[in-house]
Amino acid sequence: MTLELNDMQGLLIRGFGNLLGAQYVLLRFTDAALGKKYISELLPLITPATDKPTDHAIQMAFTYSGFSFLKLPDEGLISFSREFREGMTEDHRQFILGDSGENAPNNWVWGNAAQEDIHLLLIIYSKDADTLAEKLLFEKARADQYGVVELHTLPTGLLQDHKEHFGFRDDISRPIIEELVENVEKKVGVTFPAGEFIMGYKNLYNEYAPAPYLSATHDQMNILPSSPDFADKKDFGKNGTYLVFRQMEQDVFGFWDYLKRQGKDTEETICLASKMVGRWPDGSPLTLTPDRADPSLSTANAFGFWDEDKAGLKCPIGAHIRRTNPRDHLVTERTQKDSSEMAAKHRMLRKGRPYGTPVLEPLEPKGIMELPRDNERRGLHFLCLVTDIRRQFEFVQNNWVNFHKFGGQDHDADPIIGNHYKSDKVVTDEFCIPEYPVKRKLKNIPNFTLIKGGSYFFFPGIRALKYLASHE
Ligand code: HEM
Repeated sequence: MTLELNDMQGLLIRGFGNLLGAQYVLLRFTDAALGKKYISELLPLITPATDKPTDHAIQMAFTYSGFSFLKLPDEGLISFSREFREGMTEDHRQFILGDSGENAPNNWVWGNAAQEDIHLLLIIYSKDADTLAEKLLFEKARADQYGVVELHTLPTGLLQDHKEHFGFRDDISRPIIEELVENVEKKVGVTFPAGEFIMGYKNLYNEYAPAPYLSATHDQMNILPSSPDFADKKDFGKNGTYLVFRQMEQDVFGFWDYLKRQGKDTEETICLASKMVGRWPDGSPLTLTPDRADPSLSTANAFGFWDEDKAGLKCPIGAHIRRTNPRDHLVTERTQKDSSEMAAKHRMLRKGRPYGTPVLEPLEPKGIMELPRDNERRGLHFLCLVTDIRRQFEFVQNNWVNFHKFGGQDHDADPIIGNHYKSDKVVTDEFCIPEYPVKRKLKNIPNFTLIKGGSYFFFPGIRALKYLASHE
């Protein structure tokens, strides 16, 4: 099935990596009618997936509360997924995501639904800082004009060599959407039907991704396409998807200080950090080059764990990349095929960007380790696009990132992003590094990342935006 690129916002198929500046703006409507006019004015400025912008791009997403404020018909509201309707900070969801202790929403700077009501996320990408400043000023004035209140502005910036702040190359492993590539050889865990990430298309279950819908009577102007599942309904989800946003502050000095105390020298310290990530700082995967980084493999992604590294002697089973994508070796599955099929059902299209000034540029671990601590705030604006928040993002966060018995371990959570703690029943602050003949265990691992904000958004297709701007 051909993708309707002209009806999609561009972020679904590209990361706008050529547009170095970006800002996330969180907004609230104060008047529904004015809010609709605001969307209608912005509509022609939204960058569709058919464009390859070189100057700037604008994208838009909404919370459930935003849709409800704009009076989307009840039937439509109720057809969104439960996770989206309840939001990221609902009590049970905090438990699922591990947002407790210092990561609890009442410590967040934004996104705690009990404290503030976010309706809309505007993402502005620009080729440079000046263009970005200009666009922001312009959009601020437009928002003011329609009574749309700016709640938070979150600047981001890409770091040299595609690095994140701890000093590791990021954004290497990406799911490939089959419908976007001609003559692609379909491979479980590598290529994916569009429905895993974009609504209106078939997913890995050979079903249309569950999407919000409305009765045709609510669409008198006939803007929306028909629902693929219900003959008498209109598809509000087509060419849209859910957008998960988490602001994760990174304690770069805490990370390297802790590791320096575990390693006997710089080389071992970098090796232990790489064991935690599953790739060397330059991006080369431990599974393919276990003893040292190999720049020729810095974007290598064609590997599995079943044949190469079942015991985790190269890349520990609890490493970040192995928890977030166990590929062909889920310890719970009996065959390589079952593992691959199971792991494939929990992938995400990651679109995040770092924020804050890097401690050093280029971000080389040897240099980072020698620096004194500063008080700057820095981290990752983690963004991912998924058609099923529960099966994809929440499953990974709950069952793989935070589960202390993942892959047969006992007291480990994801070493770099897990919530590490000790209670009388559960311990999650250890990291097991299988080695022969004796395994190594790192203990008392502090939290290296801290959640500072977050929310679930819906990232509509262009026709759904049009409907939103004009519905009665
Ligand atoms: C500050 C927070 C985070 C940092 C510093 C970080 C860092 C990294 C790095 C360095 C990689 C390796 C590069 C690559 O394979 O593309 C990676 C991969 C990945 N991360 Fe994260 N990450 C963070 C948060 C998250 C979160 C919250 C999730 C999801 C719950 C996540 C999911 C993934 C996935 C799915 C991969 C690809 C694994 C693979 O396919 O091999 N990350 N991350």
